[in-house]
Amino acid sequence: MDIFLVTAPGLQDLLATEAREKGFKVTSVIHGGVTLRGEWPEVWRANLQLRGATRVLARIGAFRALYLSQLEKSANEFPWAEILPHGANVAVETTCHKSKIYHAGAATQRIEEALASQGYFIAPSGTEDSFSIRVRIDRDMVTFSLDTSGEPLHKRGHKEAVNKAPMRETLAAMFLRDAGFNGKEPLYDPMCGSGTFPIEAAEIARRLDPGRARPFTFQTLDNFDPSAFEAMRSPPRDALFNTYGSDRDQGAITMSIANADRAGVGDMTGFTTKPVSDITPPCNTPGLVIVNAPYGGRIGNKKPLYGLYASLGDSLMAHFKGWRAAVITSDAGLAKTTGLPFKPAGPVVDHGGIKIRLWQTAPL
Ligand SMILES: C[S@@+](CC[C@H](N)C(=O)[O-])C[C@H]1O[C@@H](n2cnc3c(N)ncnc32)[C@H](O)[C@@H]1O
Repeated sequence: MDIFLVTAPGLQDLLATEAREKGFKVTSVIHGGVTLRGEWPEVWRANLQLRGATRVLARIGAFRALYLSQLEKSANEFPWAEILPHGANVAVETTCHKSKIYHAGAATQRIEEALASQGYFIAPSGTEDSFSIRVRIDRDMVTFSLDTSGEPLHKRGHKEAVNKAPMRETLAAMFLRDAGFNGKEPLYDPMCGSGTFPIEAAEIARRLDPGRARPFTFQTLDNFDPSAFEAMRSPPRDALFNTYGSDRDQGAITMSIANADRAGVGDMTGFTTKPVSDITPPCNTPGLVIVNAPYGGRIGNKKPLYGLYASLGDSLMAHFKGWRAAVITSDAGLAKTTGLPFKPAGPVVDHGGIKIRLWQTAPL
């Protein structure tokens, strides 16, 4: 079966590398996604272990259809009951691309009718407790995919407190990977908000599965084998170093501490309240400083940010000899303002409509 990993556009190469390292068979990489080859156990393990995937889609069927009548016939003959529990709520979403069938709404309706005639209930897409079937009609080839994740995978299941402008965990994990972080060095985020980078990094250091604390849609399918899934959980290891965060906002630090405790890494993370102008290394061994400083969304409110980025660069240059610096921002001008000796920037990544990139240095 083809298994499609959805990711933030721009992160597909990093996700493909992660998937290969974790023993998956990658067959293709496209903008915003990675295809694996595997069976249902790989679907479960991808959801459990991959840090960079937003969701995991299982390709449950593919056929050619030139006309709606053909689509209808194939949808009626499709063995839905082999996959979806009888009487379940199902939501169907269709996209058409360069195909004779160009009316996505009409295609959705035919498939919904086929499902309803087999005893399923049709739910609007996004409805809780519904199975989501994604139909793609591309050059007259129809593929049916089932979303096996449910809530997007950046929701690791232990973050309740969120500060403004949090980085999604999936993106944070891939930026850590791009910055060369492998869990065997200290990490420090001096504008940590709700603690995403230090917590994600602590989990990597301890080899905790990102999906260890959350439910998945695939667990409600008839073919799910709970004991096989339990056996897939990674054995944790002892971390060599702690991870650290600071922020000038006391409320953010309170959230970070609570989030780290909930994630089970409270004992190996340290958080303090301080402005970026006062930062010094949190430990003696140099490691990675990673930060996503505010970008300033609207035109016209960027001016105060130049001072902030300059202050960040000054503090790092003055006190962080031997540390690597990684800055994520939407604005090349702001990155430049730090005065840090950046290598060429990483891929452009779409973070909810904002295009961001990672700028990183060699050891300072
Ligand atoms: C874009 S948010 C970071 C979000 C964080 N990565 C997360 O996932 O929650 C930027 C953070 O920078 C902090 N900040 C802004 N100016 C600061 C300063 N001068 N010193 C320290 N922190 C500052 C804000 O309080 C905010 O939490």
